[in-house]
Amino acid sequence: MQRPATTLILVVDNDPAVRDSISNLLTQAGYMVLQSETAEAASILITRQVPNLLVMNVALPGMDGYTFCRKLRQNPATQLLPIILQASQGDLTDKIAGFKAGANDYVTVPYAPEELLYRIKNLLSLTQKPATAQAQLSAPGRITAIFAAKGGVGKTIISTNLAVALRQISDKRVALMDADYSFGLVGANLNMSTTHNIMEIVSKIDDLDQDLFQSVMVHHISGIHILLSPFHPEEAELITGEHIKKVLHLLADNYDEVIVDCHGGYDDRTLEVLEAADTILIVIVPEIGPLMSTSRFMDLVIKLQLSPEKLKLILNRSDSKVGLEVADIERALKYKISYKLISGGRDVTISANRGIPLVTSAPNHPLSLGIKQIAEDLLKH
Ligand SMILES: Nc1ncnc2c1ncn2[C@@H]1O[C@H](COP(=O)(O)OP(=O)(O)OP(=O)(O)O)[C@@H](O)[C@H]1O
Ligand SMILES: [Mg+2]
Repeated sequence: MQRPATTLILVVDNDPAVRDSISNLLTQAGYMVLQSETAEAASILITRQVPNLLVMNVALPGMDGYTFCRKLRQNPATQLLPIILQASQGDLTDKIAGFKAGANDYVTVPYAPEELLYRIKNLLSLTQKPATAQAQLSAPGRITAIFAAKGGVGKTIISTNLAVALRQISDKRVALMDADYSFGLVGANLNMSTTHNIMEIVSKIDDLDQDLFQSVMVHHISGIHILLSPFHPEEAELITGEHIKKVLHLLADNYDEVIVDCHGGYDDRTLEVLEAADTILIVIVPEIGPLMSTSRFMDLVIKLQLSPEKLKLILNRSDSKVGLEVADIERALKYKISYKLISGGRDVTISANRGIPLVTSAPNHPLSLGIKQIAEDLLKH
């Protein structure tokens, strides 16, 4: 019954001895395990990373297991999370209450360790397989690259908020790839606490199975799935353009919308992203240095024979009064600006520091509305 140590199970029980015994059992069976004493603590852990399955005692101090189960079912990110409830009473009414609250399975203490293991295994095989089958049947998803010729212009803020906005306004399966391989900040901006990252895919690129791929994709509470950049910056140089080409294929085969947060500048890995992308959102700011680099990139676009129709310019911090007007910029770049995003000031920094995207923490903020507009336009095509 050995499983890859990439399937994460969260055990919620206020009795440390029970938590430890279930955790030992599951760890020995090859699962990764996190523990929580209360539903409230579990809720915080789930905000950081949605597990693959939850084993929870119904009798918890504070919020009980039934209430927590109902809460999880109301959230799109945990609506389908496999949940096994455990209780000490064997009363049918309690079992029915558990199923009514949205649990998938129910075990009554005492139970044999094998019983729990088989229930977990069966539930995981039911919930993980359909995604695979669905992925193979549906048409490849759309890839949107967020690119800039210069660093520090707002690509990551825009990518993370755009991915979350796409999920907020549609029921599409949305993936966000951090393609800033050395110093990616997507995980930090979304407060993700996991070490799963692209290197697990790169190291098995010729022998990759769907289960491993799915286990590397980190589930965010917003409902988006994230492919994080390497945990160790020095590993970034092991990633080649060929790897990125295959990774993008996988993402497009498994998701409807794939947002790629590129790193500043240009190399063969970025070229693979730009070639695979259906839409390239080029982020610029009203500053002469980044604009000159963008102008040179626009010349490169012609040499690379990238279709100009797939390029769209986003002028970030468009309200900065720095003496460069939109018309001046369009004339210099010989390209129309499609979107103007305002400077969000402290609100943006606060949202990044808290790890909550602005479109979630302040949905009516003018910057959130600007990013939602981009999401709506993407969905129209
Ligand atoms: N519209 C905005 N309003 C306020 N702050 C912003 C805005 N856009 C970006 N920032 C801030 O500017 C900084 C750089 O943004 P971000 O990290 O998104 O840029 P980047 O292009 O991804 O940078 P890098 O090339 O280093 O990856 C961050 O501190 C971010 O919070
Ligand atoms: Mg960035």
